[in-house]
Amino acid sequence: MSILIKNGRIITADADYIADIFIEGETISIIGHNLEINADRVINALGLLVIPGGIDPHVHLDMPFMGTYSSDNYETGTRAALFGGTTMVIDFILQTQGKSLKSALVEWKGRSDNNAVGDYSFHMAVTDFNDETRKEIQHFIEEEGITSFKTFMAYKGALMIDDRQMIGLMQEVKKHGGLINVHATNGDMIDYLIAKHQAEGKLAPLYHYLSQPEVTEAEASGRFADMADYTGCPGYIVHLTCEGALNAVRNATRRNQNVFVETCIQYLLLDASLYENNFEGAKWVMSPPLREVKDQKTLWAGINQGLVQVVATDHCPFKWEQKLLGKDDFSKIPNGHPAIENRMELLFSEGVSKGRITPNRYVEVTSTNAAKIFGMFPKKGTIAVGSDADIVLIDPFEQHNISASTHHMNVDYSSYEGWEVTGKVKTVLLRGEIAIENNQCKVSKGYGKFIKRNKVEGKI
Ligand code: URP
Ligand code: ZN
Ligand code: ZN
Repeated sequence: MSILIKNGRIITADADYIADIFIEGETISIIGHNLEINADRVINALGLLVIPGGIDPHVHLDMPFMGTYSSDNYETGTRAALFGGTTMVIDFILQTQGKSLKSALVEWKGRSDNNAVGDYSFHMAVTDFNDETRKEIQHFIEEEGITSFKTFMAYKGALMIDDRQMIGLMQEVKKHGGLINVHATNGDMIDYLIAKHQAEGKLAPLYHYLSQPEVTEAEASGRFADMADYTGCPGYIVHLTCEGALNAVRNATRRNQNVFVETCIQYLLLDASLYENNFEGAKWVMSPPLREVKDQKTLWAGINQGLVQVVATDHCPFKWEQKLLGKDDFSKIPNGHPAIENRMELLFSEGVSKGRITPNRYVEVTSTNAAKIFGMFPKKGTIAVGSDADIVLIDPFEQHNISASTHHMNVDYSSYEGWEVTGKVKTVLLRGEIAIENNQCKVSKGYGKFIKRNKVEGKI
C-alpha cells in the first residue's frame, strides 16, 4: 500500500513547511515539493497541519489497582487514543511484591497481546527490588526492549519502595543503559495525613487533595533528583503537578543534571476547586491531586523554558460505579481519570490556538521528546524519511465539544464534559495504514504492535 499526502503544513519539533509525503508500506519514503508519484491513495491535506503521531508515555490500561481494574483495556484504550491522534502509548507493568519481573511481564502480555489497535510499549514498575530482581534488569533492557523502570515513592503498603531499594535499582539500571521513572511524592507523609483525616471523620474527596499537599511532591522530587545525581542514573518524573516540585528540578539543572519532567494535560487545565463539590469531586481523584491556578502557570512556563519535556495523560479511567467504591472514604476511591483521547486536541486548543505554546513546541511535548527520552527516535516521534508513517492531520480551526456521549473511551463520564475545543484530528495514519478517517476507526484489534525500545541516552 502506498499513500501520498499532498500540500499539508508539516510540523515537526524543529521545522514548519509545506510539502508532500510519500509513504510506502509502513514507512515514509519521500518528502518533497509537488511530488508526481502514482500512489494507491492520495490525501489532500491543503489547509491541514501534518504532525507526527502522538506518543502518550503514561497510561494504565486494564490495570489491577485499588481493588478493581482500570476500565479501558488495550483494545478500547488504544482505539480511543487513535481517535485523539495518539498512535503509541507506553503502559506500566506492575511487579507483584515477592514475585519476579518476568512473571509480571507474562501477566501483562496476556492482557495486551493481539488486543491493541494502536502501538504500545511498557515501562516495568519495580515494587520489590532485591537480589533476584537485580538479575532481571539487564534482560529487560537488552532482550525485551523495555528500557525504563517505574518506581513509586508513594502508595505505602502497596507499590512504594524505600530509598535503599531506589539507590540499588538506579545503580543497576544505569549500568545497563536504562532510565528510572518515578511517582515522586512522599508516601509516609501522605500515609500519615490520610490516617489523620480518617480519624477526624473527614472522608470526602476534598481530603484526598488535602492529604497530598505540595510539600509532599516537592520534597520527593528533590530527593529523587539527588539520588539520580548521586548514582548518575537518568531520571524521569511522571505527572509533575506543582511549582515546588518543578523548582526542585530547576535546582538540579544548576548542577548540569538532566531530570526529565512529564506533566499531564489535567494539571495544565484543571484545578483543585473541582474537589469542593462533594462526591462529584471523585471524578478527579488522582495522585497527585489537581493543584492551584499558580501551579498551572508554572507548568505552562516550564514547558516554554524546556524544563517540562512531555505532556502525557496518566490515563487511568474508572467508571462511576467504580469511583463509588470510595463513597464513604476518599482513600478507597480508585485513583485516576480518563484523558487518552483528549490530550492532543486539548493541548492544541488551549496551547497552540490560544498562543501559549508554538506548534513546534506542541509536537515536541506530545511526541518527539517522549520518543527521544524512551529510546524510539527517529523511528517514532518525527516526520522524516525512514521513520514510521505515524501521521496525524489536524484541522486547526474546526471547533467541537468534548462529551462522554461521543468519546470512545470505556468510561461513562468525561472530565472535560462540554469543553469547546478548537482544532480537530481528522485523519490518523499508523505505520502507513489509515487508522482514523471520517470519525471511524479503520484498523482492527491486533493491528497495534509492541515496540521494542533502545537503550536511553539520558539526554534529548
Ligand atoms: O491517580 C493516578 N495517578 N492513578 C494511576 C496510578 C499512578 O499513580 O500513576
Ligand atoms: Zn503515579
Ligand atoms: Zn500513572
